[in-house]
Amino acid sequence: MSTAAGERGGNAEDRTGHWSGIAQAYAASFASLCHGGVPGLLDAAEAAAGAGGLMGRRLLDVGTGTGAVAAEAVRRGAAVTAVDPDPELLTLGAAAFEGPTLLAALPDLPFGDASYDVVVAGFVVNQLGDPRAGVRELVRVASTAVAVTIWPSGPRPSATLLEETLRRAGAQPPPGTRLPAELDFERSVPGLGALLQEAGLADVVTAELRFPWRIAPQTWWTGIAGGVGVVGRTYLAQDDAGRARLRAAYDDVVGERLADQARQGRSGTELDLDEVAVVAAGRHP
Ligand SMILES: C[S@@+](CC[C@H](N)C(=O)[O-])C[C@H]1O[C@@H](n2cnc3c(N)ncnc32)[C@H](O)[C@@H]1O
Repeated sequence: MSTAAGERGGNAEDRTGHWSGIAQAYAASFASLCHGGVPGLLDAAEAAAGAGGLMGRRLLDVGTGTGAVAAEAVRRGAAVTAVDPDPELLTLGAAAFEGPTLLAALPDLPFGDASYDVVVAGFVVNQLGDPRAGVRELVRVASTAVAVTIWPSGPRPSATLLEETLRRAGAQPPPGTRLPAELDFERSVPGLGALLQEAGLADVVTAELRFPWRIAPQTWWTGIAGGVGVVGRTYLAQDDAGRARLRAAYDDVVGERLADQARQGRSGTELDLDEVAVVAAGRHP
């Protein structure tokens, strides 16, 4: 997912971009998909931080969203500060953990060099207007370790399902959903590793994260109809007939997926998707 031009404006409020006004819809739907990546992100951060892991570390969670990363980092003993450019998401994040929160956006965080021991960003780098500048900023404010997760560009069950929905509905994503080639990076295990190395991190370790995502189709739909993600923005850009086509295509694709699951002995009313993400972490040199 790329960003709107406004996200590269002068302050955090200008940079909420596609996240503005969708906090509740996101929290009720796609957020649980991102939460599947939290343990892997923090395991990687702990390993990169070295002896003692996150215990007693000053940890900055960038793009905290609903605060799941921050809350788990507190459970692992870190003293957590969280930032997000979207005020509504920041309010949700602040309710999830004990610690300071601040409206702020990459690539300009309002912190001095090496202000935090460990800096993490879960599923944030993949949506920045300038991912390289964003990662350099994560590295700048860290003294010890940085860890990030992204969605890879290869096939993933949830993304495949949504792409098939758009294809059957004949719906085109609105312009500006892809980054220009010169700003983009390879969304893969080696691609994310290279991004962190280029930003100056040492001993970069990368891995695929695999986790299940179970969600009721109607719950997921509330996020889509609420404008979350490329599919949500595509939905909102349609006229009434286009929206009806998209909903019908979603119902068809989801119905087929549930039937497949039942044939595999996984009956039930929830989608049961084996998700994959990419994690990378490195040490501050
Ligand atoms: C997919 S959510 C992930 C939330 C959380 N990190 C998690 O893993 O559950 C992406 C988050 O990044 C935030 N975000 C978007 N642009 C950002 C930027 N330029 N700098 C920092 N955060 C940003 C969004 O507001 C949103 O909360």
